[in-house]
Amino acid sequence: MNQLKTIMHDFTFQNPVRVHFGHEKLGLLGNELKQFGKRVLLTYGGGSIKKIGLYDRVVAAVKEAGLELFELGGIDPNPRIASVREGARLCKEHHIDVLLAVGGGSTIDCTKWIAAAACVDHDAWDFFDYDKWAPVNKALPIVSVLTLSATGSEMDSGGVISNPDTDDKRGRLSPLLFPKVSFLDPTLTYTVSPYQTACGSADIFSHLMEEYFTTGDPLYMIDTFIEGMMRTVVRYAPIAMREPDNYEARANLMWASSWAINGLVGCDKPQAWSCHPMEHELSAVYDITHGHGLAILSPRWLEYCMSDETLPKIAQFGINVFGIEPTMPQKEIAIRAIDALAHFLFDTLGLQRTLPEVGIVDETHFDSMAYKSVLPFKGKLPGFRPLTKEDVIEIYKMCMK
Ligand code: NZQ
Ligand code: ZN
Repeated sequence: MNQLKTIMHDFTFQNPVRVHFGHEKLGLLGNELKQFGKRVLLTYGGGSIKKIGLYDRVVAAVKEAGLELFELGGIDPNPRIASVREGARLCKEHHIDVLLAVGGGSTIDCTKWIAAAACVDHDAWDFFDYDKWAPVNKALPIVSVLTLSATGSEMDSGGVISNPDTDDKRGRLSPLLFPKVSFLDPTLTYTVSPYQTACGSADIFSHLMEEYFTTGDPLYMIDTFIEGMMRTVVRYAPIAMREPDNYEARANLMWASSWAINGLVGCDKPQAWSCHPMEHELSAVYDITHGHGLAILSPRWLEYCMSDETLPKIAQFGINVFGIEPTMPQKEIAIRAIDALAHFLFDTLGLQRTLPEVGIVDETHFDSMAYKSVLPFKGKLPGFRPLTKEDVIEIYKMCMK
């Protein structure tokens, strides 16, 4: 017993998603759908799946399996509650048995909440209204075909929905919202633009940072797994941007996107995320791309977190992820680690580094955004460094230049 320096966090881990990974797995789609019933609602975004020929392949698979197809297209990035409402209406009207989400995180997230909203009589936003927080007691089964490596929605139980009427963007988890089956074919991401590849990679990296930078006592095995995935993103994101059809790069990013947020690397400590609550407010008000907002926030946030208490972990990050010389003083290593992170995000991935560069030119909404970001956490984000509303405003201000 004396080895127990501190008592590690107990946990239960379960991830029920069946993953078919690889370039020839989509042939199993019809059979997978069939087990859930006959009537399928296909959901997708703004049309990329038509441009890349995937829509035709999916429709053919559904028809060959003898299933009946209905569809909802036009799901926006930062998906809107209106699409959830429309999807739920279609499910009820056509007695849908199973949902088939084909696209990126926005399509899959929206589909998850359609699956829940289809099973209730109340308005879909009641799931996100803090005063109501309607329970998720039932959901239709979901099958996903992923086309963009980023959010990990293909293998997690969460979905984030925007409400433009109130400038809110809110996420929520439910064990009923894990996809039953997800198809991960890296070749389907060959057409993702260099910009979306950069944003998706920044999102994966941020998920890993949120779970790595904790004040608890994480398992060594989990920390090294996270560091390995971070190095994977650093290594393969630029390759995928330069060579969009590089299978090795796309496959590594795709599998990292799922494992960054499927529960494994977060299960050994209490979850207390910081950049995500701050970013969701940016995309709620300004509709910016999630991964880009995270990229702008992450180095500033880490700089803001620097203290005697947090230095060792930031230095560990610098040494193990960016290969910084370990013999320097810890503070110097930590400063270089943050510089290396910024260099990766802004120079290597080419993302813009300030809020004005993505169109957020004044501080008008900082107060209300900061208020909303800490609201679900009783006024303080309890992360690596606990952040009050005033701290969040300070970090937004740091991102102005
Ligand atoms: O809409 P279409 O025409 O499909 O085009 C999309 C969209 O314009 C395009 N795209 C997707 N696959 C493509 C492609 N273009 C060419 N070829 C392909 N193969 O890429 C654009 C962005 O798509 P989107 O689905 O919005 O991106 P992403 O996967 O990054 O999803 C972002 C959303 O997920 C939420 C974010 O907040 C945001 O709303 N998140 C969900 C999480 C979760 N479920 O756990 C966690 C994340 O932290 C995140 O919050
Ligand atoms: Zn994210």
